[in-house]
Parts: sequence; structure tokens; C-alpha cells
Amino acid sequence: MISKQFPEGFLWGASTAAYQVEGAWNEDGKGESVWDHFTHTPGRIAHGDTGDIACDHYHRYKEDVALMKSLGLQGYRFSVAWTRVLPQGTGMVNSSGLDFYDRLVDELGQAGIRTNVTLNHWDLPQALQERGGWTNRDSAEWFANYARVVFDRLGDRVALWATHNEPVVISLVGYGSGVFAPGLADQSQAYQAAHHLNLAHGKAVQVFRQGGYKGQIGIVLDLHNLIPASDSLDDRLAWQRTIEGSQGIFFQPIFQGEYPSYLMDWLGPVAPKVQDGDLDVIHQPLDFLGMNYYFTSEVGYSAGGGLLKSEQRQKTLPSMGYTEVGWGFHPSGLRNVLLRVKDTVGNLPIYITENGCAVQDVPDKDGYVEDRERVNYLRQHLIELHKAIQQGVNVRGYFIWSLMDNFEWASGFGPRFGIVRVDYDTQRRIPKLSARWYMDMIAQNAVVE
Ligand code: FCB
Repeated sequence: MISKQFPEGFLWGASTAAYQVEGAWNEDGKGESVWDHFTHTPGRIAHGDTGDIACDHYHRYKEDVALMKSLGLQGYRFSVAWTRVLPQGTGMVNSSGLDFYDRLVDELGQAGIRTNVTLNHWDLPQALQERGGWTNRDSAEWFANYARVVFDRLGDRVALWATHNEPVVISLVGYGSGVFAPGLADQSQAYQAAHHLNLAHGKAVQVFRQGGYKGQIGIVLDLHNLIPASDSLDDRLAWQRTIEGSQGIFFQPIFQGEYPSYLMDWLGPVAPKVQDGDLDVIHQPLDFLGMNYYFTSEVGYSAGGGLLKSEQRQKTLPSMGYTEVGWGFHPSGLRNVLLRVKDTVGNLPIYITENGCAVQDVPDKDGYVEDRERVNYLRQHLIELHKAIQQGVNVRGYFIWSLMDNFEWASGFGPRFGIVRVDYDTQRRIPKLSARWYMDMIAQNAVVE
């Protein structure tokens, strides 16, 4: 047994997102979001589940913060629901919505837990969707305005801010494949939405800098480990299109001030319309990169593989099989991505803002889950993370997805990602073995190999 020590001050936390945990979907003046609308549309979500109640975190946040404290968590990543703050997306501010986040941030502060707040974890106001949502160029202004309202209220107490979470999912899955809200399937709208998300990010960062708020700002991108299925030219080009289409389309304009040119050529008429000066707005200096990592996949050419003519196959360790959502186990992929990212961002601090897995949890009669598979998943990923840090990647913290089981988007309440079990009938929270394991790990600031 070798104990691998993390750097002093390394931040250990867990993540959630507003729509997945809060519930109270129409309380205290909250407006309807695209996810409220989508889940209330028959046939969109497995078993007809909705986030109307979810984990009832809106009412139970005190208990949840006490739980985090008892587990020794040092950081909590959550998102703000735009529709609590501005029910129609613009215009009237709903101060009781802001009051909720105010109380949550204070509660966390009293518990000594650092806050990591995401402004946009997918729940755009439905009123704005009716004006075209992210396909409307005005969305960048709407978002910057919303960001200002939140910064003004919480900007004296939040440690880490992120503009968007996984903008590729919003644009390509929400507007391109239609599997997530708002449920549209139009490639050119999807890529235009991607550009406006970039623009919105840049404008919100400008607002943050101009306001002189405390804390730091970045963005959360899902950077999975994509590798070419073979050395053939067809596979390599399919891989390039895919990595540029899912990562480069955000990463490059934000960190390098340009869109990936091969992808843009390939997209041709479907490529986003970019105006003069947009890239300067998008390319703002950031204080950190938030990175979500879940899997490794092989990418190869496929004639039937949609616009990009590519297909992805999950890689997994033969001994491990696949997780409940079909993703593989590939811990070394985390390190590979970090090393690749470092080539561009250099010494910029990186936080792993999500990593975790849904496995088959079997509760005993008291609701306790001995989730050894999840412990193994987390341990293996942390060993790789430790190696990446030793290889010079400036990773400053790690947040498990998720603090607790919650509403997993189109899959509803089926997959459970939490280190704390939620009994949805009683809303009881029961820490799993993984929570106990994480608590020990945090206390030692080390992972045992
Ligand atoms: C990520 C999302 C997060 C959660 C995990 C499992 O893509 O950011 O909300 O659903 O996947």
C-alpha cells in the first residue's frame, strides 16, 4: 500500500446542479425553465420522471450542508437556476430566488465549505427559449445581464465562478440531436447556439472583471479522452472532426481566440455565423479551467455517422465492464486529457469539476449501499490524477459527481451517481461506502494505491 499525497491546499468537494437536485420548480416566484418545459412534455424523459421535486434540496439545503460538513467536504459546486433569479430571463428580478442562494452561500460559509457556482447548468428560462434561446444572438446579452445580477448579490462570497457547464451538451444535444431540452434537432441551429454560448461566456467574464468582484472565474468543459480508432487517414480525420466538434469548438476560441479551421470548413453552410470582433470577446483571460471527465472513447469513420461522419465506441477496462449509463471505466484517460490540455493552458489552475459513475447500487434493509465499484472507480481516477499532478499539471481541486443521487436528465431517476443515497420516497439521505471512503481520503489528503 502506497499513500499518494496531494499538494497542500488541494480542494476536495462534490457537485450538483440546480435542476437535478432543487425541486420547488414553481415556488417563490420561480419561472419555467426549458428543463421544466421539457420534462413536462410527455415522452421526453424515462418513466415520465421530472425534476419537480428531485432531492428537495431547495427546502433541505441546511440539512444537506450539515451532511457535507459531516463528510469533511471542503468545496461544494452547485448551479444557480436562472429562472429563480429572473423568472422571464430578463427584466424583473425575483429577490426571493436570490435570497435562496444567499442563504445557501452563507450556510456553506458558516460550515467552512468553499463555493463553486455555475451560472448555467442547462436550465435556460423558457421565456427566452420562446425568443429562440441560444440561437438568438441576443442570448449573449441576456446571459451577461443575468450574470451581473447574480454577481451583485453573491460576488462578495463565492470562491469560484463558472459561466457554463458543458456548453456542447446544451448546443449539440439540446438543439442538434434533440435528446435534451429544448429538444430541437437542427444542426445549423446547434452550431449557432454553440457560438452564442461562447459569446455569452466572454461577455459574462467581462462583466465580472468590470465589477471587481471577489473570487475567480472560469468555465466548465467536458473534456473526455477521445482517441482515433486506428491509424488510417479516414479514422484520424473522423477523430479530428469529432474532437474539434465537441471540444475544440469551445476550447479553442476561449483559450486561443480562434475556431478550429478544419471543422469550420467541414461544416460549410452549417458553420456558425461569426461577426467581426466576436472572437476578441470570447477570448478572455480566465482564472481557471473546470474540467469534467467521465470516459474514453475510440472515434472512427462511419459513412452513416451523421454530419461529422464519425462514430464513437466506449473503451473500458476488461475487468470492469460498463457503468449504468453505458460509459466505460478508463481512469488513465483522465491523465491523458490533462496532459493534452496543459499543452494549451500551461500553468492555468485546473479543477476537476465532475468525475464519478452510476453503478448498480443495492441498498440493504437500512438503505445503506456498499458501493465498492464506485470506490474503485474513484480511487483509480484519483491515482491517475495524482500522476498527472506529478507530471506537472496544475490541478487544484477535485469535485465528485455527485454529492447525492439525483435527476439524471433524460434518464430520469434511474442512474444513481451519488456518494450519498437518496431515498426518493422519504428524501432520506444515506451516505454510501464511497462517502465514508471519500471522507477518510480527504482527512489524509492522500489516496492509497
Ligand atoms: C454531466 C452533467 C451532469 C451529470 C453528469 C452525469 O454531463 O454535467 O449534470 O448529469 O453528466
